[in-house]
Amino acid sequence: MSRTKLAVTAIAGLAIGAAAAIGVSPALRERLLPSPPTTRVMGQALVGGPFQLTDHTGRRVTEKDFLGRPTLVFFGFTFCPDVCPSGLQVIGAALDKLGPKGQAVTPLFITVDPERDTPAQLAAYVKSFHPRLVGLTGTADEIRAVAKAYRVHYAKAEDAKSSAYTMDHSALVFLMDQKGQYATHFRPGTSVDAMAAEIAKLL
Ligand code: NI
Repeated sequence: MSRTKLAVTAIAGLAIGAAAAIGVSPALRERLLPSPPTTRVMGQALVGGPFQLTDHTGRRVTEKDFLGRPTLVFFGFTFCPDVCPSGLQVIGAALDKLGPKGQAVTPLFITVDPERDTPAQLAAYVKSFHPRLVGLTGTADEIRAVAKAYRVHYAKAEDAKSSAYTMDHSALVFLMDQKGQYATHFRPGTSVDAMAAEIAKLL
């Protein structure tokens, strides 16, 4: 087992442990919502756009704060048991694989669960994946608007027997260029090498 795989397994294990600790039933696991069909359908103009959010340090930010550098944009939530941790692990490893060039890229993790993902919650979470990973949260309306701009679907899935809930969400990673425009996207399960190679085309 590679070091990366081990790390993914360890982090997923921690997340599942955390879920168990707060009383989420094993049946209440994240389901993935369908991803938009093809790159051709997802034209440049259709993905991305202006947003107003709060980062994990509590600073208010907009899309303009990230212009001039490519960004990797991933939507998820910190209580996610498996999909988000493994997606973030791949993002971190792909940036590290690019070496010094990778420092030109800003990875963004936008929560679809602003109710629980406060800036403080995000701050504790993002640092376990990559030192430059930026966690973003906002009001319910702000999250709805940015998810719509990226054509990301999400929905609360409540447990009938308790107050626990999880979030269903689409889990594409979007690569946006230096001008904030859509370059490409990655599906869940994309390898570190494949992601790094695509990012390198923009650098
Ligand atoms: Ni997730």
